[in-house]
Amino acid sequence: MPPFDPPPGYDWSPSDDRTEKHSQDTHDAQVTMIIAIDGPAASGKGTIAKQVAGIYGLHHLDTGLIYRAVAKAVLDAGHSPDNVREAIDAAIALNPRKFEEAALKAQVITEAASVVAAIPEVRQALMNYQREFATRPPGAVLDGRDIGTVIAPGADVKLFVVATPEVRAARRTRELLARGEPADEQEVLADLLRRDERDSRRTAAPLKPAPDAHLLDTTHLGIDAAFRAAVDIIEAVRTGRKRG
Ligand code: CDP
Repeated sequence: MPPFDPPPGYDWSPSDDRTEKHSQDTHDAQVTMIIAIDGPAASGKGTIAKQVAGIYGLHHLDTGLIYRAVAKAVLDAGHSPDNVREAIDAAIALNPRKFEEAALKAQVITEAASVVAAIPEVRQALMNYQREFATRPPGAVLDGRDIGTVIAPGADVKLFVVATPEVRAARRTRELLARGEPADEQEVLADLLRRDERDSRRTAAPLKPAPDAHLLDTTHLGIDAAFRAAVDIIEAVRTGRKRG
């Protein structure tokens, strides 16, 4: 049983068939579909992005992992994340195809990621990889902070996912505890707010909705409802009921 009413025209065949069919169709016409999903920390954008990519048969890139990988490389080499030269060198040397996702999600990396992400040359060094990823047929869902504004300003659909800081802190605390990391909800909340502030105030690609992004507030939505709301917006844009 599908987890929700399928979007109009949606094919519920197994995802492998679907990917191939979609890829075949789009390859012929050299058409790609790009969906940009941005938003603040722990707003639910990553979970939505993964599920959306799954049903549309698109590639998925969690761009936060790239900044986390740069931060980890700098920390592993014994440097501070605000060491600009080291961070730039780490970004240039990065191989984004070789990620150890679990290690990158550790809380110590999280804070350092937002420090290196504020360095313009770091962002510049990581831009081509993200843009190339986005345009590989049949297209991709990318989640991050600047996908709709900088990486893929021409994306077919842009979502900006938000939730109250308290709800985001509760979600992130549950995630950390489930992974066996110690987590105090008040500390997690303080970390989210500090990071949102840094990500929004930086001059290089600050966290902000693109003018044509659709706001999705997941404060009162569980995972399935948030996914369904995202698909509703995407389908409305694709069928011309909403402006993209
Ligand atoms: O999962 P969460 O929202 O906590 O973080 P993330 O998406 O993995 O991103 C970690 C940090 O990387 C953010 O706080 C941003 O500073 C930075 N980032 C960015 O600057 N641009 C992106 N496209 C993605 C992440």
